[in-house]
Amino acid sequence: MILVTGGCGFIGSNFILDWLAAHDEPVVNVDLLTYAANPKTLASLAADARYAFERVDVCDGVALKAVFAKYQPRAVVHFAAESHVDRSIHGPMDFVKTNVMGTATLLEASRAHWKSLPDAEAKSFRFVHVSTDEVFGSLGATDPKFNELSQYQPNSPYSASKAGSDHLARAYFHTYGMPVMVTNCSNNYGPRQFPEKLIPLMIVNALAGKALPIYGDGQQIRDWLYVGDHCSAIRRVLEAGRPGELYLIGGDAEKPNIEVVHTICSLLATHAPGNDYLTQITTVTDRPGHDRRYAIDFSKLRRELGWRPIENFTTGLEKTVRWYLENSAWVADVQSGDYLRWIAQNYGARA
Ligand code: NAD
Ligand code: TYD
Repeated sequence: MILVTGGCGFIGSNFILDWLAAHDEPVVNVDLLTYAANPKTLASLAADARYAFERVDVCDGVALKAVFAKYQPRAVVHFAAESHVDRSIHGPMDFVKTNVMGTATLLEASRAHWKSLPDAEAKSFRFVHVSTDEVFGSLGATDPKFNELSQYQPNSPYSASKAGSDHLARAYFHTYGMPVMVTNCSNNYGPRQFPEKLIPLMIVNALAGKALPIYGDGQQIRDWLYVGDHCSAIRRVLEAGRPGELYLIGGDAEKPNIEVVHTICSLLATHAPGNDYLTQITTVTDRPGHDRRYAIDFSKLRRELGWRPIENFTTGLEKTVRWYLENSAWVADVQSGDYLRWIAQNYGARA
């Protein structure tokens, strides 16, 4: 069995669903169910004997120890984190706690479990730490893409806390020999993403007739990775990655934000003809310290593990838009009072 943390969030839930569609190996999902989680996302697995759920905080070492003792996983895939840059600007301490302390606590619990395993099982044990390209800072328009040798230069409390967690993961390999691998991916998009991030926020706001808020000049570039491609890369790293290594994962789809929003508007218009969603676009005050460009050179992953993304931005976005159109109940479910408070806090103060 494998242990996945943060499996009720966006990427973790896609990872579990894809995993169980491809394997019969069971999964235990360790998730605290914060605002970013929607347990209904995995409702289809409620009666699946291959799936177990534990509501546990990754900062709780005692509870984690019990989970390891109960399930005896052969691998850990660590997604659980506070993941939204804007929230980290409003409240950095939650990010330090979950991303740094939580990862440290999970690494400690994993190390105790790994040390208790017989030799052959200890040798094949794996810990995949899922991180972000944001730890490398911001690129200029003509800079080469990030690669595994790029310097860590995190700029936001979110990326700084993820950088801290990456360093801890690296240290557990170098100091203890624990078979840890780190993956740093670019911006994900796809089904089941909480509508506080750019793409789902724009889709749900457009459909609700609300403003589409572009920060600053909208020329910031992200390298968009379809979530299903990210999940296949993680499966590949888990299967054949080399312990101690870093692997960068990208979608080969660099786009300025304004272009992304225009594409969403025209895709939505094909599904609901007559609506000119473009008129809903508004420019709002920029994010403080806003990184200008992220881009990933994933040639190491292609060369060593034969991975490449299947979706391009057009096919991936079409699937994403369709999912949100067909899952309005899921969207309504996550738009709780807490969500509305966040929208008021983040956008209310922007000119
Ligand atoms: P998410 O915010 O959608 O989900 C996070 C999940 O972690 C939620 O289910 C939440 O309940 C859980 N969680 C939070 N704190 C916890 C705690 N203390 N204990 C246990 N569970 C806790 O995040 P996501 O977008 O799915 O991202 C998953 C991972 O991928 C994160 O580590 C993130 O840094 C990384 N990442 C995400 C992106 C992206 O575009 N979404 C890009 C690069 C890297
Ligand atoms: P986001 O999805 O928050 O991801 P990240 O900050 O981790 O890259 O934002 C993606 C880009 O979209 C980023 O440049 C900020 C911008 N953005 C907006 O212009 N408006 C918005 O309302 C949001 C949420 C993001």
